[in-house]
Parts: sequence; C-alpha cells; structure tokens
Amino acid sequence: MKDIYKELAGAAIGAREMSYSPYSHFKVGAALLTKEGRIYTGCNIENAAYTPTNCAERTAFFKAVSEGEKHFRAIAIVGAAAGAGLPFDICPPCGVCRQVMMEFTNPETFEVILVRDADHYQTRLLKELLPDGFGPDHLFGEDA
Ligand code: THU
Repeated sequence: MKDIYKELAGAAIGAREMSYSPYSHFKVGAALLTKEGRIYTGCNIENAAYTPTNCAERTAFFKAVSEGEKHFRAIAIVGAAAGAGLPFDICPPCGVCRQVMMEFTNPETFEVILVRDADHYQTRLLKELLPDGFGPDHLFGEDA
C-alpha cells in the first residue's frame, strides 16, 4: 500500500462520518488528492426534494475546484449503510460523478481508490470506469 493512499483512505473514512443522509441512510465519504499533495474531503449531502442530493465525490471535487485546484491524482471513496462496520463492501462512483472526474482529470492516469478499510482497497483508472468518456478534449481538441 502506498502511504499516501493509506492516508487518503483514512481521510475518506473520516469524511464519511459527516454524511448528511437522513433519507437513504447510506453514508459516503471521499478524499481527493491534488497533484501537489493536498487532500480535499467530501461527503454525500441529501435533500428532502431528493434530486438536489450531492454525492461525496462531487462534494470533494467542487470544494477543491472552488479553491482553485484543477490538477488531481486520485480519489478514495468509501460508502456503506449507516451502522455498517469495517471493512465495508466497495462503493464504486455513480455515473454522474465519473463524468465530473472526466472534466478535471486525465482518465489514463487518474486513480479511483475503492476503500474497504484503511488497509484494504482496490484501484481503478478512470478510463476503466468510464471507457470512451466524453470530456473537454472532445469539445476543444487536445491542445486547448
Ligand atoms: N452516493 C454517493 O455519495 N456517491 C456515490 O458514488 C454513490 C451514491 C450517495 C448518494 C445518496 O446520498 C446515497 O449515496 C444513496 O444513493
């Protein structure tokens, strides 16, 4: 285990504690690593109207981008029903979150870390989770 991924997994597990999920009772945490080594965390934030719900991964991305970050290496994700104990089953990101990752990362190198506990995780490249994904390059060309 790379030390930084262990730290990222721990940060995601901690962020999960902040989950606001009174409707699904499914708590998700994420920790996003910038190329410079900073970590931005996020949790899922639900809403009584349901559709405004924001996933943990997007919370982390939007926090980071809103503070000027645009270059990312990896994201750790952990999700499980409230009351579940470690180790959790893996929680792969939803399609909307995969698309948000596509906007701000290189799918060939960006790693998605699916966390079971701080010592057990699986990694995927974004290109494996979103093959042939549509991104900024398709609109503007690779040199834009
Ligand atoms: N959720 C996330 O936060 N991330 C995912 O990748 C999957 C789903 C949240 C949304 C909702 O609050 C709850 O989990 C159940 O879908």
